Amino acid sequence: MSFDLVFFGGTGDLTWRKLMPALFQAFRHGKLPAGGRILAVARDERSDEAYRAFIQERFSEVEPSKRPTDEEFARFAELLHYRRMDLSRPEDYAGLKQWLDARGADTTVLYLATSPHLFPVICEQLGAAGLNAPHIRVVLEKPLGHDLKSAQEINRAVRSVFREEQAFRIDHYLGKPSVQNLMALRFGNALFEPLWRRESIANIQITLAESLGVGTRGDFYDRTGALRDMVQNHALQLLTMIAMEPPSTSDADAIRDEKLKVLKSLRPFTAESVARDVIRGQYRAGNAGGQAVPGYQQEVKVPEGSHCETFVALRTEVQNWRWAGVPFYLRTGKRLASREAQIVVNFREVPHPIFPGSHRANKLVIKLQPEDGLELHLLAAKGSGTSDALAPVSLDLDFDKAFAAERVGAYERLLLDAIAGRLNLFVRSDEQEQAWRWVEPILHAWEAERSGGGEGPRGYAAGSWGPAAASALVARDGYAWSEEQ
Ligand code: BG6
Repeated sequence: MSFDLVFFGGTGDLTWRKLMPALFQAFRHGKLPAGGRILAVARDERSDEAYRAFIQERFSEVEPSKRPTDEEFARFAELLHYRRMDLSRPEDYAGLKQWLDARGADTTVLYLATSPHLFPVICEQLGAAGLNAPHIRVVLEKPLGHDLKSAQEINRAVRSVFREEQAFRIDHYLGKPSVQNLMALRFGNALFEPLWRRESIANIQITLAESLGVGTRGDFYDRTGALRDMVQNHALQLLTMIAMEPPSTSDADAIRDEKLKVLKSLRPFTAESVARDVIRGQYRAGNAGGQAVPGYQQEVKVPEGSHCETFVALRTEVQNWRWAGVPFYLRTGKRLASREAQIVVNFREVPHPIFPGSHRANKLVIKLQPEDGLELHLLAAKGSGTSDALAPVSLDLDFDKAFAAERVGAYERLLLDAIAGRLNLFVRSDEQEQAWRWVEPILHAWEAERSGGGEGPRGYAAGSWGPAAASALVARDGYAWSEEQ
């Protein structure tokens, strides 16, 4: 199968930091279908040779095991081409069409790695140039809008040119092997299904913690904040996979229909419930990895007095028969105590304890990163002969070790899926809009607080687990975050 892959924003950060290294890995692993061409388009004039040299140089910033040797790069570079384009000029799209038509590949993937405000104009121009035939797919990179209205505008522009099955909306979390494992755990094994419900589960905690600060992205981040950057997409996608009903097939739409139902079943927020159930924080100076680090407002390109949240913890419920009354806690933040993405399923305690001492409930920890694995926490008799008290032990599974040779990175997987036309790991427009619909009351409540002269997010020390109020949120229900259990 021949393919053409076109990167709009071909000299941008995303392209050289994530996409080119991912494509190179696919190439190195022999997974990239033969007969492919990769075309980068951007505003300035340069030759194919100059573009190849630019990419080769950028590979020095990639982790050493993922860098090509000179010989490998020379072979990879044969696939790379460059074209100057002004994204507002119809002639430039006509030129692109001619370039693509001259070969007539079986599949063409147009990857919009530009700023999202350009998506509508690019789509319109692509449509006008006739670059929307059924063999053409468009990949849209996050952030897709900054609220429901802007997301709908982008989706309208895409829909006026492409059919839904031609639109591949990326949430890179869905490409992580650990996240695909969630589906495997639930629907490839019968073991947990009978327990996967309110009768057995006390609460579910999703934590996406980062130890890094905002780095040099202060200006982007300050317009975004943790709710838009991580909760509206990554955290909610994970929640849907944990809470969804079993789909009847593994078809993209069967899966996405079920995920959408979860999003529609989330308890809607009101101004009162935002005040009660959503905690936002902003990091202050502190200590990360043994080093003193500045607070958010001292980071480059962050305005002083910013109200931007770098931490969110919230409590929600999925209002259906399976989950009624089970709290789902979501938590994400920058400059937290460690880099750790995990889902903790806390089971109910035994109904009638007969052993002395603590009766810690069972829990299943689904570890997404840095390790990819599963831990099942049980209580066992120590057999020390001096006491009948039980001790906690865990069954640990390490998927990185078990499948080391076969693991592929998120972008590698998603690029290969886009080329192959597999939509399962991409987000449908109705899912994405529903997620915005659900977070909007939170955005509105914060905005109202700000215009009323409110104090904004609570401070937390860099290197901690966020504001104390986040612990109180969970403690209110009689529970604790997993690191406090
Ligand atoms: C991105 C966010 O979507 O995800 C970043 O914009 C964040 O702010 C990143 O750092 C986290 O991704 P990962 O794969 O490193 O967990």
